[in-house]
Amino acid sequence: MRRKLVVANRKMNGSLPSNAAFLEGVLAGILDYHHADYAVCVPHPYLFQAEAILKGSPVAWGGQNMSRFASGAYTGSVSPRMLTEFGCQYVIIGHSERRQRGHDTDHAIGERFEVATQAGLKPILCIGETLAEYEEGMTDLVTIRQLNAVISEIGVKGLAGGVLSYEPVWAIGTGKAASAEHAQNVLSFLRGHIEMLDAEIAKNIQILYGGSVKAENAAKLFSMSDVDGVLVGAASLNTDEFVAICQAASNACV
Ligand code: PGA
Repeated sequence: MRRKLVVANRKMNGSLPSNAAFLEGVLAGILDYHHADYAVCVPHPYLFQAEAILKGSPVAWGGQNMSRFASGAYTGSVSPRMLTEFGCQYVIIGHSERRQRGHDTDHAIGERFEVATQAGLKPILCIGETLAEYEEGMTDLVTIRQLNAVISEIGVKGLAGGVLSYEPVWAIGTGKAASAEHAQNVLSFLRGHIEMLDAEIAKNIQILYGGSVKAENAAKLFSMSDVDGVLVGAASLNTDEFVAICQAASNACV
């Protein structure tokens, strides 16, 4: 059975003292909740702190982006190896906040997925449609285009090294989460697409939902058969709220 995974995407938030309070609060909050997996993706300067606090604990950590190149003249970028040097297990790639600003093309994201897995990282590949695309009924078309761009780089078997996250852009940071039923429909559609290519990969790959996940809607999302976890933005800035989501994930697995 696939385990549930809760990932915090802290985005460009935090400070040394507030991060410490958050990470220690999460460790305390999940003590009796070991049926799910947890990870926290922090801004790069805070990776050393995440490693110092979380090492040896059930909470993994990761970056929010990385370069597809190993080294070189890429001012402001961080390589996969740099992330692994700080103990990262995960890295978010293709987040809509980066796609929309023109930093990430489908092709570049495919390459990044591949180099992340080669470096021993688990990429969390974000895909999702905009509000205009949603209203035009293009959700399936857009998410499959984004997923296929990665599959054409790495082959369907390459997906085994990562995690998929469906994040409708209209639900991110808006407070308007997709309904659990909508999330289930899209995730089941995506899994079905992968299944046509490779049944084993489809059965095992963790597919998350992200977009205004809160303690209030988490349990319903976790009750859906294809929702293997959540990617949490704003609610991960509140320790109690994030811990409640983690607890709901663990409870859903008992
Ligand atoms: P949100 O962000 O939870 O604040 O909507 C989710 C994300 O961007 O991953």
